[in-house]
Amino acid sequence: MLAQNLGPTRSLHALDATSPDSPPPDLLAAALAARARAYAPYSRFAVGAALLDEQGRVHSGCNVENAAYPEGLCAEAVALGQLVLAGGTRVAAVLVAADSQQPITPCGGCRQKLREFAAADTPVWSADTQRVTARHTLAELLPASFGPDHLGPR
Ligand code: THU
Repeated sequence: MLAQNLGPTRSLHALDATSPDSPPPDLLAAALAARARAYAPYSRFAVGAALLDEQGRVHSGCNVENAAYPEGLCAEAVALGQLVLAGGTRVAAVLVAADSQQPITPCGGCRQKLREFAAADTPVWSADTQRVTARHTLAELLPASFGPDHLGPR
């Protein structure tokens, strides 16, 4: 399962600190620290997300649930808000962490939210509570996507 997600040329063994396939080390630490702040009393599924911006800065977020369930926020959405608030304009890398056997990937809505600020080849890393478990590009997660270019000049 993991090897499949990582693709034939990206085994788990490639994901060490010296591999070009590894995320910036700050990203995992930031996502795990954010996850520790998750407010997830309903699902009990704590998620942390970390984003690298175009200036090399890291922004993070956790999921924030609500008694009115659909009003809950995903960790990625919270991290995106942090990036924009800090003056960031692009997402260069994404890492999402959760205590999950299966590598966690952003939900459909968050894939589209990330699409606004990220390129097709932007790496989206998955991690459990210890280590990175998978790598996808945004285009792999959201193929043939709709984006700002479709709207033309405004
Ligand atoms: N969740 C995230 O924050 N990010 C994801 O990538 C997947 C799901 C949250 C939403 C909800 O609070 C909980 O995880 C269970 O779905």
